[in-house]
Amino acid sequence: MTFPATARTDHELGLDAIRRARELTEPVLRELVDRLGPSLGDVGRYHFGWRSEGCGSAGKAIRPTMAVLAAEAVGAEASAAVPAAAAVELVHNFSLIHDDIIDNDELRRGRRAVWKEYGVPEAILIGDALHSEAFGVLLSSGRPNAAAAAMRLSTAMREVVVGQVDDIRFTERPWTGEQAVSVAEYQAMAEAKTGALLAFSAAAGALLGGASEAVADCFDRLGRHLGLAFQCTDDVLGIWGDPENTGKPVFGDLREGKRTLPVIAALSAGGSASERLGVLVERGVRTDFELRLAAELVAEAGGREFAEREAARHLAEVDDCLTALSMPAETRACFNALSQSLIGRTR
Ligand code: IPE
Ligand code: IPE
Ligand code: MG
Repeated sequence: MTFPATARTDHELGLDAIRRARELTEPVLRELVDRLGPSLGDVGRYHFGWRSEGCGSAGKAIRPTMAVLAAEAVGAEASAAVPAAAAVELVHNFSLIHDDIIDNDELRRGRRAVWKEYGVPEAILIGDALHSEAFGVLLSSGRPNAAAAAMRLSTAMREVVVGQVDDIRFTERPWTGEQAVSVAEYQAMAEAKTGALLAFSAAAGALLGGASEAVADCFDRLGRHLGLAFQCTDDVLGIWGDPENTGKPVFGDLREGKRTLPVIAALSAGGSASERLGVLVERGVRTDFELRLAAELVAEAGGREFAEREAARHLAEVDDCLTALSMPAETRACFNALSQSLIGRTR
């Protein structure tokens, strides 16, 4: 079979979908942030990288892209998804701003985190404002399914905060032995803290596109697995990613004692590297030498490979969801491209 010379690759279609989602969502977000007034608005513009030209990224826009694609998948125009796309980007950014306070991370998207630039009180308040605007943008949209989407957002945010609390509580547990965090506990936590919002993106995009609750549930499942694959990859990048690309601190997760998947898997693998890692992390990993050694031992004990396999397993589930859903070929190609971009992503 031959394709016309103008046929675009899945990758190009995927990039186009991200561009489409950004172009539709960003003006809405800018208007909402401007409405917060000169002081808090400035904090918001700083976080999104809009304070002056060339001050960096506003994020990868994966969640709004999911919402737009889900609306298109059920036969609606991309614009139908805008309230869902804006709402999810607002709560996502709220969660990042508060997450950096919680995780004591000083760098986000290559810039000082909001709490480092403006202090913790203002970082809490801009987060609160973005959270509340998210519900406002959905409910004021006048779309028939907006209230149902807002209910899904409320449920998703409950999951996110419960997941975040578990993430914190995990750091108070022993690294090894019977009380150590298991892979299954990690999975439940990651599904809540990250899977829930990607699930919402896809489900709400479908709902605003006119889909039934049952169809929205299928998109929820698709988004949830994509979110889990995304978090597994994020954990790998948190150890081996280049901070120039990730815009996050090098070895930030190891330094803070976060129970990320590669470390949990390495510690439960058994064998000499696993045992040496256990001794090292129990003692506390602080110096650059210890951090590098810990990263090496995690890889040697198979933790990196395990997390990468887990990401691939969730992407296979995404594939199954896509097979079960009927949608235009071009939209399917965009979902595939988004999925593929998670394998081997560097930022
Ligand atoms: C970061 O999400 C938080 C996680 C769920 C791992 P993203 O990596 O999507 O953040 P931005 O919006 O692109 O910066
Ligand atoms: C991601 O938290 C989930 C939320 C922010 C709700 P992480 O702590 O794993 O993400 P990064 O690595 O800081 O972006
Ligand atoms: Mg964090």
